[in-house]
Amino acid sequence: MEELILNKREKGLQGSLKVPGDKSVTHRAIMFGGLAEGKTVARDFLDSADCRSTMRCMEQLGVKIEQFGSELHIEGVGSGGLKEPEHVLDVGNSGTTIRLMTGILAGTPIYSVLVGDASIHKRPMSRVVDPLRQMGADIQGREDGRLAPISIKGGQTKGIRYESPIASAQVKSALLLCGLNSDGKTTVTEPFVSRDHTERMLKSFGVEVKREGTSVQIKGGQKLKGTDIQVPSDISSAAFFLVAAAITPGSSIRLEKVGLNPTRTGILDVFKKMGAAYSISNEQNINEEPIGDIDVSYSELRGTEINGEMIPRLIDEIPVIALLASQANGITTIKDASELRYKETDRIAAVADQLKNIGIDIEPTEDGMIIHGKQRVKGGNADSLGDHRIGMMLAVASCISETPITVRNISAIGVSYPNFLSDLDTLSE
Ligand code: S3P
Repeated sequence: MEELILNKREKGLQGSLKVPGDKSVTHRAIMFGGLAEGKTVARDFLDSADCRSTMRCMEQLGVKIEQFGSELHIEGVGSGGLKEPEHVLDVGNSGTTIRLMTGILAGTPIYSVLVGDASIHKRPMSRVVDPLRQMGADIQGREDGRLAPISIKGGQTKGIRYESPIASAQVKSALLLCGLNSDGKTTVTEPFVSRDHTERMLKSFGVEVKREGTSVQIKGGQKLKGTDIQVPSDISSAAFFLVAAAITPGSSIRLEKVGLNPTRTGILDVFKKMGAAYSISNEQNINEEPIGDIDVSYSELRGTEINGEMIPRLIDEIPVIALLASQANGITTIKDASELRYKETDRIAAVADQLKNIGIDIEPTEDGMIIHGKQRVKGGNADSLGDHRIGMMLAVASCISETPITVRNISAIGVSYPNFLSDLDTLSE
């Protein structure tokens, strides 16, 4: 399905929905399960193109993975058990897979090559390659390791103290995973705390990770023990329905069992600042991760400022937050978000261009955007540009569009949420 015409949802959105499992948590469950001794079960895992890429990479490295309905059963190979792959490892569109696998493979004594799609081959790898080289890793790649394909001759690495210039969970996780195989301790300090699923999940696998402020430290040589992981629903997927309900008159929905890890809930802070009508109930903890139900309904919204430490806590939600802001009264300013330029697309340009195609004007800036509300969504022809979150943002915009929106390259949404459109239909029947 390469092109789809989407119509206004006249009656708004109603009902309850449990969105699919968290992408970041699923990637980690597959990788850590594969590295552990014994069996790991990942319940309610995300079955999407990105997570399938991680599965295939781990399988090529000798990990046995079986699917039983919504569960993945992973037979870990244990410390030092990964085998040299016969072919290149293809990460598809997945930035998390290529960054974290580079960290794992840097300290594993095998030779491997990581490749991906056209988008992956444009995304910066030096952010992990440079510090991993400081740890002693032998990594090559295009433009001296700045770009994939990346080849890794794994070997003995040593722990370092690394001050990361960016708040990136992919960088932090790659270094911690290499640190597990390294001599001594590895410490990563970030300007702000990025998502901390790696730290929380390693604890479930019996590994100690120390946190102090924005620093995390891991001691090399610790072994992972297989465990059961319940994957929470992905707040980054829930975000599309949260925004759809908040901007579509007549809407009132509940999203069940959504992951509420505080390093991911920046969108709820934005909702609060904008005066959105939402509440949280049934809060509980599952394997170190908080979850809860979110109720949200349509309401008047006001513009706000989004910057600083909030940014890593909502980085993936910014495309749909830009749409939200276009429906708020007043001005919304997003700053400190230059990382958006290095995602599946340059998301500052992609958001501005695609919203313009459907009648919404936003002003892109070097590190964010300025959005004046409240604007009409007129409809027209737009394109996901192969970026799942741009595709879903456009589908949400169609809920309030005066004329239909035709979205080209809509199948990109399969990267994180293959059933997104049917779930949207379920809430607006
Ligand atoms: C992710 C970290 C974030 C996020 C990405 C998933 C992860 O990227 O944007 O979608 O699972 O670690 P950065 O670490 O590059 O900010």
